[in-house]
Amino acid sequence: MRVLTIIPTYNELESLPKTLGRLRAAVPASDVLVVDDNSPDGTGQLADSIAAEDSQVHVLHRKGKEGLGAAYIAGFKWGMAAGYDVLVEMDADGSHQPEQLPLLLDAINDGADLAMGSRWVPGGGTVNWPLYRQAISRTGSTYARIMLGLKIKDITGGYRAFRRSTLEALKLDQVESVGYGFQVDLAWRVAKLGLKIVERPITFVERELGASKMSGNIVVEAMINVTKWGLASRWAALTRKKSPASK
Ligand code: GDD
Ligand code: MN
Repeated sequence: MRVLTIIPTYNELESLPKTLGRLRAAVPASDVLVVDDNSPDGTGQLADSIAAEDSQVHVLHRKGKEGLGAAYIAGFKWGMAAGYDVLVEMDADGSHQPEQLPLLLDAINDGADLAMGSRWVPGGGTVNWPLYRQAISRTGSTYARIMLGLKIKDITGGYRAFRRSTLEALKLDQVESVGYGFQVDLAWRVAKLGLKIVERPITFVERELGASKMSGNIVVEAMINVTKWGLASRWAALTRKKSPASK
């Protein structure tokens, strides 16, 4: 199984080398792709210098800040073209502990099409994460779970492993959401395809260095989209029931 861990970065100069070092030590078999959006602080150049020393580290440079979703889609495409079997999403800031990656890879080995790190299942949790962020995350996840009729407990979580075939089945070019919305969007698309989603408990550790890039707009975008998707799928189910002839 060839594994590629994709790490999107925007101004992660202090965090990136630590996270990369931990990842290379914890899961040496995984190659890494840093996807940098031309960070003003020089994260991209730092990634280049690490890649020059380590043939398993690669860097994808993008023109400017286009959001987490766009960065991941570019990374997925790069990884699929390069023939990887499993593609992992991991934040650069240390919140997703590289030492917990084997939990997700084991789930893929056991047959999951998408393995999601989850803060909100027994055994999972957060360290130093502000209460308001926990509240947004729990409330948002619960709302999405009810609205979309899914069982996933941590649907905005961004520590995930995708089987390559899962990403191939998705129409990545249709995914437009950014931030939290992007994570919900992908999980929803995978669920609609009827693929196997497994949650594994992780401990999310709040970053010690640098600042979060998430904003109120991102939360609002996610809520609006979840409402739209939920209503659309209910409507579709309703019209299917009314006209049993048309399947
Ligand atoms: N290339 C690129 N472009 N990277 C980005 C961008 C962007 O526009 N915006 C954010 N990132 C990178 C950051 O540099 C970091 O590595 C990662 O994406 C996560 O961003 P944070 O700003 O640290 O997110 P957070 O800690 O507030 O949010 C976390 O929780 C969310 C809710 O569960 C993340 O795990 C999210 O993925 C998750 O949706
Ligand atoms: Mn973070």
